[in-house]
Amino acid sequence: MNNAAPSGSMHAVSGFQSQFRRDPERMYFSPGRVNLIGEYTDLNGGFVLPSAIDRGTYFAARLNDNSRVNVCSDAFDAKVEIPLSDVGTQVAEHSWSDYVKGALQEFDRQSKLGSRGIDIFVTGDLPRDSGLSSSASFTAGIVFLLNDMWSCGLDRMTIVNYSRGVENNFVGLQCGIMDQFAVVNGKKDHAICLNCNTLEADQIPVALEDYEIVIADSRVPRKLSESAYNQRRTECDAALKVLRADIGIDFLGAASLANVEGCEALLDDPILFKRAHHVTAENERVLNSVNLLRQNKLAEFGQLLYESHASLRDDFEVSCSELDTLVEAAWNISGVLGSRMTGAGLGGCTVSIVASESVEKFESDLAAAYSKATPYDVSILRCRPSDGVKRLDS
Ligand code: GLA
Repeated sequence: MNNAAPSGSMHAVSGFQSQFRRDPERMYFSPGRVNLIGEYTDLNGGFVLPSAIDRGTYFAARLNDNSRVNVCSDAFDAKVEIPLSDVGTQVAEHSWSDYVKGALQEFDRQSKLGSRGIDIFVTGDLPRDSGLSSSASFTAGIVFLLNDMWSCGLDRMTIVNYSRGVENNFVGLQCGIMDQFAVVNGKKDHAICLNCNTLEADQIPVALEDYEIVIADSRVPRKLSESAYNQRRTECDAALKVLRADIGIDFLGAASLANVEGCEALLDDPILFKRAHHVTAENERVLNSVNLLRQNKLAEFGQLLYESHASLRDDFEVSCSELDTLVEAAWNISGVLGSRMTGAGLGGCTVSIVASESVEKFESDLAAAYSKATPYDVSILRCRPSDGVKRLDS
């Protein structure tokens, strides 16, 4: 075992030992992700700019002789025990166990199920349901672990596809590919500029120097997010239908902002116009952000974060008053270059670029503004762009 193991993996080892009365054989870490900019563009074949972060999910695992995949966690009460012979009959229950069952079904569908069972203990330091991809972190971690322990030989892109398949085929969330791609392919001190149509990815150095990425968790539970997410997807598809007939594009991310503005009269439902307006403007913001980051123009990049938030609030309508309060409070703090909601929204977190010397003030000013305007307490996380899912003990 790695002596310099971080405390998350030590937790996973002791949790494993007390649960299974043996030592684990292998350890894994799967990060969360923060999307710097490019929201709701992935499902439209557009561009995104996420980073994997140094918080996530830790796994301790060992092959067993009872032909079952047994998963326990200190974050959830129940234990999941799935006999390998019953993988195909599992159904979704709207609980964390869905990600395990769904992952096993992806392996089964591709005839990649192993013959040995596995005991797994899971722990982590990522807030759940907060827009930092705790579910992609968990799922990609499980898929990576199963692949490694069963020696299936899947490459990273296949691990991304299995992990996304769990959401699309089992859980029922018609999400894009951003979260799973970032969690699997993250790179320390980089953000990934991913073309979600071609899946070409560029690792963009994020040289923040005297600045930091700071996440503010609104603690607003994202209750209706699944249905709202799928509804936004339907609206984007409806806007595409109109644009396709007029300008012959195959996906919304292929349209320019000027195309959408030119089609306003055809998009007779104002909601569809607003949705398409957000997607195309956001897509252009991602490409501009990449240019600015390459030139180290952090202040201009920060402005794009504010613009992205306004567009998500007004055109895509996936912000909420609590997230708006956090972004407005950030705007008034000197040393903050930009701030926006991150992830699917309707609760969850904001991401801000803050001067290191201003982080304490950022924390106290946000806490004051937030507790005045809402019944919740904000929680602040400093984070760094990090590597993707990996084995820790080899
Ligand atoms: C969720 C989805 C992603 C992406 C974002 C919004 O995180 O899983 O695919 O669509 O929302 O940008």
